[in-house]
Amino acid sequence: MSGDGPEDDPRSPLDPLLDTPRREGLTGTAPADRYKPVADPELVTTPPDGRPMELQPAWRTDFPVDWPQDHYVERRDFMKFMILTSLAFAVGQAWIAAMSWLRRRRDRHPELRIARIDEVPVGGAIEFAYPEPHDACVLVRPREDLLIAYSQRCTHLSCAVRPQVDRGVFHCPCHEGRFDMETGRPLAGPPRRALSRIVLANRGGAIYAVGVEERTI
Ligand code: FES
Repeated sequence: MSGDGPEDDPRSPLDPLLDTPRREGLTGTAPADRYKPVADPELVTTPPDGRPMELQPAWRTDFPVDWPQDHYVERRDFMKFMILTSLAFAVGQAWIAAMSWLRRRRDRHPELRIARIDEVPVGGAIEFAYPEPHDACVLVRPREDLLIAYSQRCTHLSCAVRPQVDRGVFHCPCHEGRFDMETGRPLAGPPRRALSRIVLANRGGAIYAVGVEERTI
């Protein structure tokens, strides 16, 4: 009667030399000490002179110099850096948006009725304040068909300019500055920039101030 002994096993017999020294590579096994864990280079203490720690002075043992660790940037540090950078970028964008909103609000000027056209004689001028009560301006009518208005603030040191309609200029008495009446550009004296022009609109025969055109040249 057949039994369960090794002589009945149809598989090939086990190699009796399996796991013996120098056979590991052939059998797919390996001794436990072949793949020893390698020291993590990030955690190795490396003295600057390269000598082993046993040969280092005593003080270095107390204060090891770990250059690899010093240069090691952990993932957590990197994430922290990325988050802070993104936060700074977002804050910068919000600040720019807020500034541009404020600038748009500031640049939006109210409408102010100055006078009816027939109330301004040819060769005459009317003073008014725009856009704020302390912003002195002057509306002049040098010709029948020309109405023009400027801020009275001289672009040199902010003295009030006076219209001399018959001469076609604005005169600044502080330093004898002169501006062309039709363009507002400086003609004489120390001013180098043109007067700020007040934007006018005709609404049913009335003259309105609707904006300020700042000029840099
Ligand atoms: S302030 Fe007008 S010329 Fe100086």
